[in-house]
Amino acid sequence: MKQNTSMLESTVGSSMALIRLLISFVETTRRVWRHVMRVAALAMEDMLSWMEEGGQVGICDATNSTRSRRNMLMKMAEGKCKIIFVETICNDQDVLERNIRLKVQQSPDYAEQTDFEAGVRDFKERLAYYEKVYEPVDEGSYIKMIDMVSGNGGQLQINNISGYLPGRIVFFLVNCHLTPRPILLTRHGESLDNVRGRIGGDSSLSEVGEVYSRKLASFVEKRLKSERTASIWTSTLQRTILTAQPIIGFPKIQWRALDEINAGVCDGMTYDEVKKNKPEEYESRRKDKLRYRYPRGESYLDVIQRLEPVIIELERQRAPVVVIAHQAVLRSLYAYFADKPLEEVPKIEIPLHTIIEIKM
Ligand code: F6P
Repeated sequence: MKQNTSMLESTVGSSMALIRLLISFVETTRRVWRHVMRVAALAMEDMLSWMEEGGQVGICDATNSTRSRRNMLMKMAEGKCKIIFVETICNDQDVLERNIRLKVQQSPDYAEQTDFEAGVRDFKERLAYYEKVYEPVDEGSYIKMIDMVSGNGGQLQINNISGYLPGRIVFFLVNCHLTPRPILLTRHGESLDNVRGRIGGDSSLSEVGEVYSRKLASFVEKRLKSERTASIWTSTLQRTILTAQPIIGFPKIQWRALDEINAGVCDGMTYDEVKKNKPEEYESRRKDKLRYRYPRGESYLDVIQRLEPVIIELERQRAPVVVIAHQAVLRSLYAYFADKPLEEVPKIEIPLHTIIEIKM
C-alpha cells in the first residue's frame, strides 16, 4: 500500500512538472509572438512615416503569413495608404533549395554560423514552422505570383487592384525574374563635343573615342562569347551608334529613351558659356540639379521618368545586355540598379571609357 502511494505521488509529481513546463512553454511562445508582432508593427510604423514624408511606394518585406498579422497591417494603414499583399508561391524544389542556400550564405542571421549545413538545417526548421502557421492570403488587395520564377509560364492572380500605381506594380512584377545575367553599362566613346566641352549636341567620335569603340568591341566579344542571345542597346544619337559599330554578331537596338538629357536652350554650350550667358539658369541648376529643368529641355527627374520602359525591359531580359548611352542617362540607370537615393543621382561618377558590369 505504501509502495502504491509513493508511486501515485511520483506520477502526480511528474504530471505537475509536465504541466508547469507546458505552461511556461505557452507563456514563452506568447511572449515571443507578442514581441514579433511588436517588431512587425514598428517596421510598419517606420514605413508609414516615410510615406507621410512623400514616399510613394514602400515595401514592408516580412513573413506576413498569418491573417492576424495582415489584419494588423491593414488596420495600421487605414486612411494613410493602400496596402497590396504580394505573395510568391514556388513549388519547384530546385529553386527552393537554391534560394535557401543563398539565404544562409547572405543573411546577417547566419553571419556567425560557421557550419553552413547547420545553417541550412536551421533555416529549413524555420520554414517548417511558417508552413504550420501559414494562412493563404485571401483578404484585401493582393498579387500572387505562382511558379513564375523559371520563366516558363506560371500563373498570376490579382485581386482588388486598380489605379495607375498599383497597375504599374503588377506590370513590373510580371516582368521581373531571378535568372542571373550581366548588364554592361558604358558611355559612348569620347565625342567631338566632349573634346570641346560642349553639352548635348549630336557629334561623332574623336580619334580617342574611336579607339575606345574598338576596345569595347573586343571586350564585349570576349566577355559575351558564349552568349549569342545578348543584345546591344544604344540611344538614337550618333556617338552611341558609332561606339557600337565595331561590335559584331549581336542585335543592336536604338532607344530614344536612352538619349542624353535634353539641355534645351543650353544645348551646344559649354558650362562656362552657360554660367556667363545664363547665370540664373546656371545658379538654379547648381542649387537643385535633380529637379532643375533646362528651359525647353529636361530635368534629371524627367530623364528618370522616361527611362521607366527601358528599366522594365532590362528587368525582363534573360540574356546579357550592353547599354551604350550617356552620362545623365547612365547615372539614372546605375542609381536604379545600385539602389542609390534619388538626390545622389546627378552626382554619380560615370567616367568616359569605363564599363560598369551589373550582375543581375
Ligand atoms: O558633357 C557630356 C554630357 O553627356 C552632356 O551632353 C550632358 O548635358 C551632360 O553630360 C550631363 O551631365 P551633367 O548633368 O553633369 O551636366
